[in-house]
Amino acid sequence: MKISTTINGERQEADIWEGESLLFALRERFGLPGSKNACEQGECGSCSVLLDGELVCACLVLAAQADGHDVVTVEGLGNGDGLHPVQDAFVETGAVQCGFCTPGLVVATAALLERNPDPTDDEIREALSGNLCRCTGYQKIFDAVRLAAGR
Ligand code: FES
Ligand code: FES
Repeated sequence: MKISTTINGERQEADIWEGESLLFALRERFGLPGSKNACEQGECGSCSVLLDGELVCACLVLAAQADGHDVVTVEGLGNGDGLHPVQDAFVETGAVQCGFCTPGLVVATAALLERNPDPTDDEIREALSGNLCRCTGYQKIFDAVRLAAGR
């Protein structure tokens, strides 16, 4: 089937298999490998994207469900010339180690700060509870979220 969707502000079309995930389509058909495929079971958050402004695991959404909708991936967060403030904060605080979790955490953090610019620690924990990191111990990720919120 053919789908037409807006990805990072640009209208895109692709021929897809009805059963394939949005994550697969983003990575393999639309050339956007930023969203990572770690578990592909909705457990790790490494594939987090915004679908019509809502944070979703792209591995749990069918590509067909994005037909006619608006998708923002980590590649679409910056303004083209520079990093998004959340990306800057992750770099500055050293919240990136292997980086596999980072795109999902950046998208989830951007979504959190969009709806709640001054989150409490508990609100940060709740918002990022679906995003697993095996490297950082989470403290530097917290530092990054607070730094980005402060800006
Ligand atoms: S790859 Fe989607 S939640 Fe892990
Ligand atoms: S930086 Fe390696 S999993 Fe988070």
